[in-house]
Amino acid sequence: MAVPVVAVHEDSSVNGSAASEKRCYNMIDLKNISKIYFKGTENEVAANDDISLRVDEGELIAIIGQSGSGKSTLMNIIGALDKPTEGEYILDNVAVHEIDDADLSDIRNQKIGFVFQTFNLLPKITAQQNVELPMLYAGASKSKRQKKARELLEVVGMLDRAKHYPNELSGGQKQRIAIARALVNDPSIILADEPTGALDSKTTKMVLELFQKLHKERNCTIVIITHSAEVAEVCERVVTIVDGKIIKDTANPAVSGGSSASGVSNNEESDIDDIMISSTKEGDE
Ligand SMILES: Nc1ncnc2c1ncn2[C@@H]1O[C@H](COP(=O)(O)OP(=O)(O)O)[C@@H](O)[C@H]1O
Ligand SMILES: [Mg+2]
Repeated sequence: MAVPVVAVHEDSSVNGSAASEKRCYNMIDLKNISKIYFKGTENEVAANDDISLRVDEGELIAIIGQSGSGKSTLMNIIGALDKPTEGEYILDNVAVHEIDDADLSDIRNQKIGFVFQTFNLLPKITAQQNVELPMLYAGASKSKRQKKARELLEVVGMLDRAKHYPNELSGGQKQRIAIARALVNDPSIILADEPTGALDSKTTKMVLELFQKLHKERNCTIVIITHSAEVAEVCERVVTIVDGKIIKDTANPAVSGGSSASGVSNNEESDIDDIMISSTKEGDE
């Protein structure tokens, strides 16, 4: 695909997530983004209204707002699921607003790790196979997939559940699997939509601790969309959206940044390609 690349950012030839040193590389750059529904009619809604937002590599940021404030609209734009009516969006040096709709899915697979409120795991394949799935779509070899999936299962503390099926796991465990899956293609950003919305408070705390760990130890860039103050509290930066506009963008001094590469490895697996491929054909993902 022909991806429009822009050269407006500070430094770095690195295009991965686990950086060994903190630097100021602009990962997300939203410039005067608006999304207008029913434009020119009496029902016109500015779901996002002139939003400008820059997120640096390694930031853990919450976008918080009440129901109807425009969070999902913004998440769809940041996640390259939808394009703005107006404005520019540059994600990790790629001008997303210039990309054909047909190519947006490639950008999503390469650059974005999604975490959803309801986990969205495939029920008929194991935890590890779920983690491998984005690598399967990207065409990675089986041995690479297995090695990477097991590394990430260990990172999220779920290696001992690698062979379990989603219905054998608690909500918090499912979300940890989903977070491992989000990381598997080394995305530029993790984009989490109400990631604790379906969890009880104890499990919420554990999942938030995992995001903090990924932020501190792996320098992941994490954007969490939420309506919850409890979630925003663990983020180092909190952006508040009201009626489609950013009204506040504040640092949270209680949360500090940091970085250092980490990674563990393990190896061992069974034959799963056929099951995985047939499961994905069921269109559950
Ligand atoms: N597909 C759509 N068509 C028309 N209006 C929409 C659409 N999606 C969202 N809106 C409107 O945009 C505003 C923001 O919605 P949304 O982004 O879903 O907010 P939130 O996720 O914060 O609840 C709301 O007024 C909503 O009704
Ligand atoms: Mg929403």
